[in-house]
Amino acid sequence: MLNMLVIATTNQNKLKEFKEILKDLDIEIRSLADFGPIPEVIEDGETFDDNAYKKAWQTAKVLGLPTIADDSGLVVDALDGAPGVYSARYSGENATDEENVTKLLSELKGVKNRKAHFQCVLSIAVPSGPALTYEASCEGTIIDDKRGDNGFGYDPIFYFEEFDKTFAQLSMEEKNKVSHRGKALAQVKAEVHQIKKWLDQRLFEEKPPKPDHAEFINNDWSEK
Ligand code: IMP
Repeated sequence: MLNMLVIATTNQNKLKEFKEILKDLDIEIRSLADFGPIPEVIEDGETFDDNAYKKAWQTAKVLGLPTIADDSGLVVDALDGAPGVYSARYSGENATDEENVTKLLSELKGVKNRKAHFQCVLSIAVPSGPALTYEASCEGTIIDDKRGDNGFGYDPIFYFEEFDKTFAQLSMEEKNKVSHRGKALAQVKAEVHQIKKWLDQRLFEEKPPKPDHAEFINNDWSEK
């Protein structure tokens, strides 16, 4: 039976969003902050899908608990999809949002086609490997002048036509209604009870780890 679900993030904002969506389920929600340090998941996949699944499955395996993870980023048409899975480190490891924005604008200097979209993939995995995937995107245009102070990442240069504002000019509620992550989470919310049934079934099928008798034979039980 499913009684605990882990959210593979330490980001407090993401955690809040996830908890809100999952609150109807009668299960305990934990985040990585509730556990001791676990091996870092290297996000070296070629797609958002690969990375989201890797994060969800590796965490599920290490903790022995079903886990939900997300991966997202900005995809720019004129740059053949860059920065894509490299969005967080576009201008180098440990890059700041500002450095990434500066690099993107310099790559787009003189480029007419400004079409871009944010993409988000959510993966819900059980320790033995099977997973559910949810995906959503949000279309926009990259502008040269930064506008707005809300949000993070590429929000100040991501212009969303429907609201005639950049993402950084939207409130959290406004952004969540239309954003890639908001829409992917809305799909999870709409199916949350079916997801619980699916997880219950998978966990029921998972074989509990068998004690390794060879280990017991070699154990030294004498008190030291
Ligand atoms: P994450 O791995 O899903 O946390 O996101 C990877 C990177 O994509 C972030 O560091 C941002 O640079 C970018 N990104 C993802 N979602 C957003 C968003 O909603 N607004 C702005 N940038 C975003």
